[in-house]
Amino acid sequence: MTEPFTIRCRENGPLVLSANVRIVDHLGNEFPLPQGKELVALCRCGHSQNKPFCDGSHKQCGFQGSNVAIQS
Ligand code: FES
Repeated sequence: MTEPFTIRCRENGPLVLSANVRIVDHLGNEFPLPQGKELVALCRCGHSQNKPFCDGSHKQCGFQGSNVAIQS
């Protein structure tokens, strides 16, 4: 049995996932992924100049994102 695909929410930062993925725009065109990386970081602060990827801007804009999953 394989592990489910996991997207990790970094505290006050991006969503991080395996680079073994295709990310496409609203037209179905694929974004080139950073070469040689095992992980991809997606912006969730809205301030990246390279969306959908994180460019580190969350550090300057003071993004707060520390939501935790409710355990049932
Ligand atoms: S989460 Fe990093 S630039 Fe938005």
